[in-house]
Amino acid sequence: MSAATKETLAEINAKHFDKVSPGDWQQWVRDLHGQVVEFLISPEFPAWLGLPSQGTCRMLDYACGDGVISKGLKRHFSSVVGVDVSGSMLDKYRKTAADLGCSTDEMVGVRGDLLADNVQPTDPPLPEEMLHNFDLVVISMALHHFENPEGALQRLAMRLKADGVLMVIDWTPLDLSTPAQCRYEEELRERGESLESVMERVKGHSARHTVSRPDGFTEVDMKGLFKQAGCGEVRWKLAEQLSPVPVAGAKGQLFWARAQKLA
Ligand SMILES: C[S@@+](CC[C@H](N)C(=O)[O-])C[C@H]1O[C@@H](n2cnc3c(N)ncnc32)[C@H](O)[C@@H]1O
Repeated sequence: MSAATKETLAEINAKHFDKVSPGDWQQWVRDLHGQVVEFLISPEFPAWLGLPSQGTCRMLDYACGDGVISKGLKRHFSSVVGVDVSGSMLDKYRKTAADLGCSTDEMVGVRGDLLADNVQPTDPPLPEEMLHNFDLVVISMALHHFENPEGALQRLAMRLKADGVLMVIDWTPLDLSTPAQCRYEEELRERGESLESVMERVKGHSARHTVSRPDGFTEVDMKGLFKQAGCGEVRWKLAEQLSPVPVAGAKGQLFWARAQKLA
């Protein structure tokens, strides 16, 4: 394939996620979703997130998948827009909205790539004002799939209103920097394995070609990315327990990070 026709990572992701069937999510995916959402629905979450606005609130769920995050956060927002490159994921997103009894004014899913060099209208097209001035933009389990995570956060921060909040949920590297990871290393050692051998296995994961940052992001990485996107007041929370990812033959550690758009 010539450089001119080389598929972008977004196109590779669209193809890959078009084939994934959330109706058949394996138990480990359901458990992972449960772990992600557990914090979002916890009593401490609203204060941690720190949305500046009261009343009418709008959220963009970017790379929304089947809508697990929109569903978890819907109660805080009068309107939620989900955007994803995968048409199949959007079918599931719309089903999630219908199951919640939401009208398309309250929760709408559209196909699009707001990170492309040349951003095209979404499918179906939305008025530009519906794709800007969000109180919250969330990117869950997707930043590591983007060609250019740094540019992605800059682009998405531009869609926030002044004081709006950017939240990222993703994996943090296995670098023995947390108690849970040290316990995992012990567990591996008892089985005659090492963290290095597990990391090698992760590199051979069947969905590896859909990912730009297989190791994920450290707190320092996220502070740098948020800063370059014009956001500060960073808050970082690590999952206390690692999450099994049997398809990669490994466990991973989730984080939630938020920052506020600076004037
Ligand atoms: C692992 S799934 C996460 C879905 C959902 N956010 C969640 O937390 O369950 C990654 C999603 O990112 C989407 N995606 C990948 N690259 C994208 C891009 N450039 N723009 C929009 N969506 C993208 C994929 O289609 C897929 O639905």
